[in-house]
Amino acid sequence: MNRYITTAIPYVNGVPHVGHALDYCLADTAARYFRLKGDKVRFQVGTDEHGGKIYQKAEELNLPVEKYVKDNSDAFKSFIEKLNISYTDFIRTTDESHIKRCQEIWQKLKDHIYLEKYEGWYCTGCERFITEKEYQENHAVCPDHQKPYERIEEENYYFRISDFKEQIREKIEKNELLILPDFRKKEILKLLDDSPDVSVSRPREQLKWGVTVPGDESQVMYVWIDALSNYITVLGYPEQDTSEWWPATAQFVGKDILRFHTIIWPAMLLGLGLPLPKAIVSHGMILVNGQKMSKSIGNVVDPVEVIDRYGLDAFRYFFLRHVDTFADSDYTDEKYEEAYKNELANDLGNLVQRLSTLAQKNQILIGRVDSKFSDEYCELMERFEFSKAFDQVWEKIQDLNKRIDDEKPWVLAKNGEKAKLEKCLKTLILDLLQVNMELAPFMPNASEKISEILKDPIAPPETPLFPK
Ligand code: MSP
Repeated sequence: MNRYITTAIPYVNGVPHVGHALDYCLADTAARYFRLKGDKVRFQVGTDEHGGKIYQKAEELNLPVEKYVKDNSDAFKSFIEKLNISYTDFIRTTDESHIKRCQEIWQKLKDHIYLEKYEGWYCTGCERFITEKEYQENHAVCPDHQKPYERIEEENYYFRISDFKEQIREKIEKNELLILPDFRKKEILKLLDDSPDVSVSRPREQLKWGVTVPGDESQVMYVWIDALSNYITVLGYPEQDTSEWWPATAQFVGKDILRFHTIIWPAMLLGLGLPLPKAIVSHGMILVNGQKMSKSIGNVVDPVEVIDRYGLDAFRYFFLRHVDTFADSDYTDEKYEEAYKNELANDLGNLVQRLSTLAQKNQILIGRVDSKFSDEYCELMERFEFSKAFDQVWEKIQDLNKRIDDEKPWVLAKNGEKAKLEKCLKTLILDLLQVNMELAPFMPNASEKISEILKDPIAPPETPLFPK
């Protein structure tokens, strides 16, 4: 089966932070899981490089915007490599091919686009038009960016969302467009009711950095139209047949941008006559000591520093297991350290060390084994309940440690009960290899090392897998 997995493409007005890492790690877990099941996977990542926010930042830094976006896009690319993300396609929204395809998409949506005067509010931080109701509720200041909303009076192109609302509602209600977690689905249905047509362009005088509206040099596309298109332009839409990959199996996004992916994006796809993605999976926010990360508070966690502390496996372990897949979760250095020492080093590291030492001492050879995912594991993974699936994998690891304590293979060895000992160790190792396969989508590097150590434990590794 073919699977297409996507991630949100980050704005390049800064360097990668742990929030971005979450998108990548979740999508990578899905991609690796499907590959291990034998599916063919295409996996997109990339960078969102247009819009006012980016342009302003480059100006502030006195840098040519092209250079600024290229440097930051490269930084994201190296970060993705550092996380060992198994992507197949990297797209930049400043790629010539993307820009051209985006303009063709606009042309195809033309019947649903009209020109009108916009008078209202905008937040450049969110790159979003704000309704009067929100403006009142938030007392004129964006709660996420702590900046007053800007007043805008200009002529814009509008996209007639109303042409598609009913179809979108039906698809969401029938789970043909599955929104995960379920409680977000209700929020989105409510939001859909209140959604007005969206402004999809800005006058070039106001916004210089963007894709030109075809046939109207004076207007630039709204950054979200350009950005959302990436999911199909990267597949070669419209000139190439995308049916091998589209509709996507799962699109991973943070809860803050779910609305764009479940209202504007489906409306665009319906306007183009394309099927809707099968699932939009929305993860929560990573908080620090219960607070939102922000440069002004000064609590932004640098993911590179966190990875370098205990290695990539530890990073992926924490963010895929201790960060709930769907809810907001807290990161603290203490929690991270505890998870590393008590769980990775004590539970998993010890287990591998104990079993490989026993196997070596007693000359147990395993050779090639074909492990299989358990049914409960597959069920959770296919509902993208990754932190839950990971919890279950961990229970199995702890259980194996308990079994070693109970079965005491060293006593069997001491008593010379050779046949019993061999059976006991072989069963334990085979069970660990089975768990290890389930570990692979989450922690690919550690899982590979464990397979190598256990399949032929001539000599257990000198340095433990997770040094304390
Ligand atoms: N450029 C848009 C996405 C366009 S997709 C067609 C954007 N960029 S972003 O850089 O602001 O965010 C990129 C991703 O990182 C989003 O999925 C967002 O939810 C996620 N996160 C940003 N901060 C986060 C946390 N603090 N915690 C978890 N994820 C967060 O939005």
